[in-house]
Amino acid sequence: MSHPLTTDLARRDLLLLAAGAGLAAMLPLPAWAQAADIKSLKIATIGSGREGGALGTLFAKAGHPVMFSSRHPENLKELVDSAGPNAKAGTVEDAVKFADVVLLVVPYTAVEQIGKENGAELAKKKLVIDVSNPNGRRDGEDFVKKVNDEGGAGLVTAKLLPGAKIVRAFNALGAGKLADNAVKSDKVGVPIAGDDKGAVELAEALIRQIGFEPVLVGGLAMGKHLVPGTPLAGEHSTAELKQIASTLK
Ligand SMILES: NC(=O)c1ccc[n+]([C@@H]2O[C@H](COP(=O)([O-])OP(=O)(O)OC[C@H]3O[C@@H](n4cnc5c(N)ncnc54)[C@H](OP(=O)(O)O)[C@@H]3O)[C@@H](O)[C@H]2O)c1
Repeated sequence: MSHPLTTDLARRDLLLLAAGAGLAAMLPLPAWAQAADIKSLKIATIGSGREGGALGTLFAKAGHPVMFSSRHPENLKELVDSAGPNAKAGTVEDAVKFADVVLLVVPYTAVEQIGKENGAELAKKKLVIDVSNPNGRRDGEDFVKKVNDEGGAGLVTAKLLPGAKIVRAFNALGAGKLADNAVKSDKVGVPIAGDDKGAVELAEALIRQIGFEPVLVGGLAMGKHLVPGTPLAGEHSTAELKQIASTLK
């Protein structure tokens, strides 16, 4: 015969479990978990140059429908062909309409205009991965100083794309080695920064899906460290990234 205390505990546990299940059913699931299959998520790149082309190709080869975009989509035929049957090309407007998840991979000076033209639609997306960086050589040192004075790339992107669920990622992993790094058995770490929990979880799942291991460094304010030339830049293991991130503020 079971001990009365054990029986009481078992009944209480069952009640708690039932209450927990009811509560869980009422809690909203993160955006990515609502998708029946993460591979069904449609991914678009705004910017299909070296980095946007390489990242979009990894997602297309991982099974996602991908739309590469350009102001001249007719020039993307070679990229689309090499990315395989899941890939197609369109205008920036087409891509924003098509996507569940947008990769923003443009010169940082273009982000303001993209925000003005597509900000309302981008704010409806499950996730915007901001891969873009201010760069002194390309954009001018005055521009880089202005971005840094305003809090750095993460906070400035959030200001230029109001309401968008932004996660910075892949900012300092070179396009030329992305495909090789994606298949390394010792996973290459990807430092990420974001404020929206659901978007961060979705970004983490997508990053793992293409062969990397995400390391959350902090909120968007930490996005200023996710640019080339900082200690987090380049190829690191997750342990190295965590150690470096622990020294940053
Ligand atoms: N290259 C890398 O290894 C690397 C690594 C990490 C991060 N990043 C960052 O990724 C971003 C892109 O670098 P990239 O090397 O890929 O440059 P890229 O090869 O020059 O490509 C830039 C892309 O941005 C698009 N673009 C430019 N202005 C635009 C606008 N106003 N509206 C829409 N699209 C626009 C261009 O599209 P069009 O066809 O319309 O001209 C082009 O496809 C930069 O911010 C860079 O710092 C680069």
